[in-house]
Amino acid sequence: MKINKKNISDRKSEHVKLCLTDTVSYKKSNGFDYYCFIHFAATDIEINKISLTQKLFNKTIEYPFFISCMTGGYNGSLKINSELAKLASILNIPVGVGSQRQVLENDSFKDTYKIIRENNKNGLVFGNIGVPQIVNTEKPIELIKRLVDTIEADAMVIHVNPLQELFQAEGELNFHGFLNKLNKITSKIKTPIIIKEVGSGINYNSAKLFLESGARGIDVAGAGGTSWSKVEIERNKSSVPEFWGEWGLRTSYCVRTVAALKKEFNFTLMASGGINNSLDFAKSIALGADLAGSARLILKNIVEKGIDETKNMLLLWMEDLKKIMFLTGSKNLKELRNGKIIKAEDLF
Ligand SMILES: Cc1cc2nc3c(=O)[nH]c(=O)nc-3n(C[C@H](O)[C@H](O)[C@H](O)COP(=O)(O)O)c2cc1C
Repeated sequence: MKINKKNISDRKSEHVKLCLTDTVSYKKSNGFDYYCFIHFAATDIEINKISLTQKLFNKTIEYPFFISCMTGGYNGSLKINSELAKLASILNIPVGVGSQRQVLENDSFKDTYKIIRENNKNGLVFGNIGVPQIVNTEKPIELIKRLVDTIEADAMVIHVNPLQELFQAEGELNFHGFLNKLNKITSKIKTPIIIKEVGSGINYNSAKLFLESGARGIDVAGAGGTSWSKVEIERNKSSVPEFWGEWGLRTSYCVRTVAALKKEFNFTLMASGGINNSLDFAKSIALGADLAGSARLILKNIVEKGIDETKNMLLLWMEDLKKIMFLTGSKNLKELRNGKIIKAEDLF
């Protein structure tokens, strides 16, 4: 089927509208409620000396938090991306655009993506495209280069979303040959490639295949936050068994298991999927993530409360993170990742 400009724009707009409601969340948790920090009474940490900065893809970021890929490609997305970029620039944190597929089809909405770079000149910016677009092209290297150039992306995110495609009326189910194309891309392009899910999670074996094919980052985007099968089921008004809306691997499981691959591969582990408060944010790092991010929570806050309030919320998260590091005896993020969290059942 030839997907026209209107189809994609309408879909992008419907996604944002639905994500501003609360009907699209998983009922099940992201799994971090199964963990507790180990309170360390003998702490020797000077809380004011804790630094949260780190190097990522050749840039320095202020905090271990990123704004996950969301939108672009329809009129209303210009304002949203403009504000997300301003927020990212003020905090000096990474920000991603939503799928740049529109850029491949026509020039109408280029500005809605470019604004991410215009409002965030020196920041770390992620481009975004889906597996079907990679699989369906004979020229994956040229495709990625074009998308990187449009927004001067520091890294390119490729989303793997088989569950979402399955329930999307316009869904494309051809994922065959992706790893082969990924290998070609990573061997020819210097821009780092990050592989992410959209809320159903990436397990150990999948992550290993992506890393063996040259990916430099894995964003597990696990279950417990936005359910993309629920989004598409809502859009189609289709009636399917309820378990489909709950399908997926919890974020905590994905982070904990994929972190084990750090022994074998040098890569950036990103935690997302229902990271909606400072405690889960800190727990995701303690379980092994280099940084954690949110999508829907940030969208809702930017649209409903504006840049300042969203910024203040995130700054409070960073204060909470430092307090947790103080209380667990972690002088830096590396120490926080070293045995500072246990399964809640082990505390009894
Ligand atoms: C409105 C909206 C649009 C999204 N569009 C994209 C997209 O185009 N590409 C992508 O990789 N992920 C997209 N996502 C998925 C998010 O990046 C994220 O992986 C997912 O929503 C889980 O995170 P959350 O629970 O914090 O929302 C979108 C999320 C939202 C809320």
